[in-house]
Amino acid sequence: MSLLANLFRSSIGRKFLMAGSGLVLTGFAVGHLVGNLQIFSHPDKINGYAHFLQSLGPALWVVRLALLAAIGIHIWAAVALTLESKAARGPQNYGVHKWLAATWASRTMRLSGLVVAAFVVYHILHFTVGVFGSEYYKNGMEYTMTEAFALLGFPVVQAGAQVHDVYSMIFIGFGHPLVSGFYILATGLLAIHLWHGADSMFQTLGLRSNKWATNLRRAVTLLALAYFLGNLAIPGAILTGIAKPAAGTPAAAHLVASR
Ligand code: HEM
Repeated sequence: MSLLANLFRSSIGRKFLMAGSGLVLTGFAVGHLVGNLQIFSHPDKINGYAHFLQSLGPALWVVRLALLAAIGIHIWAAVALTLESKAARGPQNYGVHKWLAATWASRTMRLSGLVVAAFVVYHILHFTVGVFGSEYYKNGMEYTMTEAFALLGFPVVQAGAQVHDVYSMIFIGFGHPLVSGFYILATGLLAIHLWHGADSMFQTLGLRSNKWATNLRRAVTLLALAYFLGNLAIPGAILTGIAKPAAGTPAAAHLVASR
């Protein structure tokens, strides 16, 4: 049997697939948050950055397909491992003891996974496709870069170039309490999911009883908390008016019109 087939067929292989795909998705989620935090800077920043991502063309599709594959593997491994552990326990062991033995976070794993999956679908329809929730997106307005934008020293967009106005789209989208509320709920559940997922991964890798495992787990707790706070900051600051859209942007005009 090849190594790949072994990964999919054995229980430990599935656990590794679960951990590996989880790491890939975590990398994306953290990178995405770092990019999104540019909303607190000049509109040129996040709009230039989003333009860079869009301009990747076929490479962007390679990344999207890789993410999709990671999501597929993660869900498949989760279902397979759950069915396997239920079968191993047998029907007599489904009762209260097992339920109580499981930690609060592990019990919420399936629920948080489902909500986050539904959130990602909603989020792509909201911001990438523009199907609902962002009337601004449908108006198809564009943003004119006031300054050139470079990423790691590489020039991305020139001053005066017309790009998609992600900045206004985010400000207008998060002006709705229900939209912001759903983002906060989903990213909160995602943080719990990451926190417990990392813990399960340490167990798979045999790191749980290790001396430095306690510190590692503390670091993961801090990271999950920082991830949630970072994600909370964006809709939270916009909804409460702590962050105001830059003057002269369509988001600023929208704010005045909606008062
Ligand atoms: C405050 C939170 C967030 C903000 C402001 C935000 C913002 C955005 C924006 C503006 C886009 C569209 C980019 C474009 O069309 O140019 C996008 C795409 C996306 N976001 Fe988020 N996002 C947030 C949270 C998340 C979370 C928590 C996840 C999942 C873990 C996520 C996953 C995605 C995915 C999968 C895409 C599609 C990427 C693609 O086009 O291939 N986002 N996000």
